[in-house]
Order: sequence, then C-alpha cells, then structure tokens
Amino acid sequence: MRKNKETWWKEAVVYQIYPRSFMDSNGDGIGDLQGIIHSLDYLADLGVDVIWLSPIYDSPNDDNGYDIRDYQRIMKEFGTMDDFDMLLEQAHQKGLKIMMDLVVNHTSDEHEWFVKSRQNTDNPYRDYYIWREGKKSGLEPNNWESCFSGSAWQYDETREMFYLHLFSKKQPDLNWENSRVRHAVYDMMRWWCDKGIDGFRMDVINMISKDEELPDGKNINGLFGDFSPYVMNGPKVHEFLREMHDEVLSHYDLMTVGETPNVTTEEAKKYAGEETNELNMIFQFEHVEFGGEIGKWTDKKIPLVELKRIMSKWQTELEGHAWNSLYWNNHDQPRAVSRFGDDRPQYREISAKMLATCLHFMKGTPYIYQGEELGMTNYPFSQIDQFKDIESINAYKEIVGNQRLEHDQMMSCLRFKSRDNARTPMQWSNNKQGGFTTGKPWLPVNPNKDEVNAEVEVNNPNSVYHYYKKIIQLRKKHSIIVYGDYELLEERHEQLFVYRRCLENEHLLVLCNFSDEVIKYKMPMQLEQYDVIITNNQRKVLESEMELQPYEAFVIKY
Ligand code: NOJ
Repeated sequence: MRKNKETWWKEAVVYQIYPRSFMDSNGDGIGDLQGIIHSLDYLADLGVDVIWLSPIYDSPNDDNGYDIRDYQRIMKEFGTMDDFDMLLEQAHQKGLKIMMDLVVNHTSDEHEWFVKSRQNTDNPYRDYYIWREGKKSGLEPNNWESCFSGSAWQYDETREMFYLHLFSKKQPDLNWENSRVRHAVYDMMRWWCDKGIDGFRMDVINMISKDEELPDGKNINGLFGDFSPYVMNGPKVHEFLREMHDEVLSHYDLMTVGETPNVTTEEAKKYAGEETNELNMIFQFEHVEFGGEIGKWTDKKIPLVELKRIMSKWQTELEGHAWNSLYWNNHDQPRAVSRFGDDRPQYREISAKMLATCLHFMKGTPYIYQGEELGMTNYPFSQIDQFKDIESINAYKEIVGNQRLEHDQMMSCLRFKSRDNARTPMQWSNNKQGGFTTGKPWLPVNPNKDEVNAEVEVNNPNSVYHYYKKIIQLRKKHSIIVYGDYELLEERHEQLFVYRRCLENEHLLVLCNFSDEVIKYKMPMQLEQYDVIITNNQRKVLESEMELQPYEAFVIKY
C-alpha cells in the first residue's frame, strides 16, 4: 500500500470566506476585513486550519472582486492594507493560515496595465492582453462565447482592435505568452509571500494558455462557439505553472490550489502531481457541473449513482499520483444542503451532517464554504430583479431573451444554481439582518436566519456546527482519515453512499443515506470489534441487518 508524503496542507481543513458577505463591521452593508478579524475566534473554535479569502483587492466590482484593478491595494469597502496586516497577524497568532485568491487569467479593464495597453499599439503594455483585428469590418476575431454570455470579444474604439475577455467585458484576459506579463505576476506574488501569506487559490488557472490560432469553437447555441478546447488546459499551461513554481512557489512554504474547470484526472496528475512541481491540488468540477441542460443551468439533482461514480473516479485515479481537494460548494455554487442534501426543515440538519460525513472522510483536503458549517440553505428567490450576480443576470437575459427557456423554467434553474445563493450574508444571529450588518445588506439575508445562525448553533451541542467541529477534531486524531486508501462499496445502490478507507491494518467504513426513506441494509462484513466514531443519528451498535433512517450517516473504525 502506498502512503503519501505527509504534509501540513494534506492534513488541513480550509474555510472559505467570501468577504463581501461574511461580516460587516461598519454598517455599510458590505462585509469587511475588520469583520473577519472579529470572527477569528469563531473560526479557531471551529478548528479549521486555513482561511481562503476570496479577492480582497482594489476592484470596480463588476464581478465582486474577481476583476482586479490593483493587486497590491485593498478594496476600499473592505478596509485598508493596515487592516489586512492586522488580519494576517491575528490569524497567525490563533494558528490560522491565510490563503489568498490569485486572479491572473485576467485583470479589470481599469487596471493600469489595461488602461495603458488600450491607448495605442506603440507602448510597453501593448501586448499585455490578447488583442486582435476583427475578421471583416465589425466582425469579432472568432465565435467564442464568454462565460458570462455574449461574445468573448470587445471592440475598443481607442485602439481600434478587439480584446479577448473570457468573462465579463470588464475582465480582459492577460497575455501569458508575454514573459513580461508572467514576470510582473510573479513579482506581485512574491510581494504577498514576503508579507507572510500562506498560500494561493488560483482562479481559472488552467485557462491562462490559449491556442494562439484562436480557432472558432463548436457552435453551442446557434450564436456562439465553445472556447473550451482551445483554452482549458491549453498548450503551455504546464510550462507556465512550472515556471511560476520555480520563480515563486518553491521559495516559500505555501499551500496552492488551482481552480481548473474541464479538467480530467490525467491533467490533474500533472497539475497536482506529487512530483510535478506545479500545484498542491486542484478543484475539479465534474460533480458540480453534471447535468447542465443549457450551459450550467438545470434545476435537477445529480443522481446518487453518478455522484458516486464521479467522486470515486477522482479518489481512485489520483491515488498515489496527486492530491484531491474536496468540496460541495463555494461562492460560485449553490448551497450544499439545498443541492445534494435536503433543505426541508425536518431534514436540513441531519442531511447537512450526512453531507459533511460523506465528504470529510474521503481522501483529500476538505473545503468548507462560509455558512456550510451551519447548514445554510439556498435563498427563496422569486423575482429576477433580486439577483445581483452578473452571470445570473446575463444568463437570464440571453436564455429567456432568445426563448431558449420560459421565464418560470429559468427562474427555477436560477433558484437551484445561481451563485447568489452562496452570497447572501452569513447568518450570525437572529438579530435584524442576521447579525451580519447594522445597515442594509448588499444582498438580502435568508428569511430562515432565526433558526439557522451561528449563535444558536454554537450554543447547541447537537447542531450542524458542532458536528463539523467534531469531524475536524477526528481528522486531527486519526491519520487514516487523511492518508488511508479509498474503496467504493455498493456502487449501484441508488440511495446509499458507502465506502471504506484503509491504512495499514486500520479501516473505516463510511455509510451515508442520501435519501428521505428508511433503507434496509445488510452490513458488508461481520464485525466483532468496532467503534462508531461519528453518527448523526445516535447509532451505537451495528446490527447485521439495519434500518437506516432518512439521511442517516455514521463512520465506524475497525
Ligand atoms: C472563477 C471565480 O470563482 C468566479 O467567481 C469568477 O467569476 C470567475 N472565475 C472569473 O474570475
């Protein structure tokens, strides 16, 4: 049996903060760095090791900070660099590490580099971005569709050329072919590392190398073509990442995770290989992108057999080669309990605990998205004008405007999958605005804040919060949770997710009922001696024939 090299970031649990929605200290309705500082004790008590901060840099906020105007300044709504320094210092004092979001596939169109680049074709920044002439007068250089709907090209009146933007037109793509761009990025990264940060989460990092021919993509909707084959895991991406590793990453003790849509396990072994000198791990997307009917849009749950197939494929194919990240949700995904569990009041808590069990006992580094540890749910959106997210708004306009879906159908998809579900404010208490702000929150607080909030849950030993805390403690206690091999059992079972972990002569059996039914189950083995190390339903003994309650989950060690 192969044992992985032991490292701190494999043993760690990461907590993602979306600063805009986490905690507002000054009543402007927008979360901020002082708010995070006030919440550090809460995170330390939960027991997480690393905080991943979604972007906190100066930004005009076309895409809530993923459009960066200045990589070395703090967004004014969030505070100042002094606040950041205080956050870093206080986090470190409490044993918490800070992982920054690195967004270098693109910048804001208001970044100084772009402002200069667009001026003319005769200045040092002219090739910092991807500029092309149109095909014929007025026609875009190719048919690519941007991730946020519409063409991925924007004509610039000053420079009289088109620039590429795979996201919004205020997010022009950097030209990674230009070594001055790459070295400017590395300098900026070193500047943050020298401040003492502990890692980077790298935004769409597998999209930085484009096929230089920029060929038309396969038509996807009668209007535009798919850029994926020419952009995702592009020709020089591994070369660039190895250069980044040599220039920056190898000089510091960092944790790195690449966001890599459309990645295969073969590619992942390069990005996150034990010996490849690129990144520590990546975020794969298969379980969160399954079943999209128009692009990512659907309102249907993934069937459990498919979920098991995908998760298990990543577990077994990376075994011994590369390290997995584990996540159910983040700031781009709906709430885990609404999507993979059951957010009806009678099942919300138990299914949130079941999901935690299922994920955290797999092999990889687990990520908790703010509020997941409370079992926060999707927001009951009923009108299109309640959404603030550029992706949701543009998709509605494009899909309903072109009559590809009716209004009601699209609303149902948005309710199920819009990114704004993750972005409603963190629910701290049952106070007005859930204790998030004394002002008017930038997105409304979920009306279930009276039952679902940190204050209530911290004071209730049976809460979802305490269950997460216990799971994190177990990870610190049993190295089999981190390093054991994974084996899926009951592959075809439509309600149960059952798997085993093994490390030397220790074993864990993880059993999760993903349904709202009582399931009769015959244990796969007879065990004389075992410990139930966690249960969401007070299970103490195992009978050889069991009746598993709706969303029941437990783990035994034998
Ligand atoms: C992925 C980020 O997670 C998402 O929030 C953002 O909109 C895009 N990349 C563009 O930066």
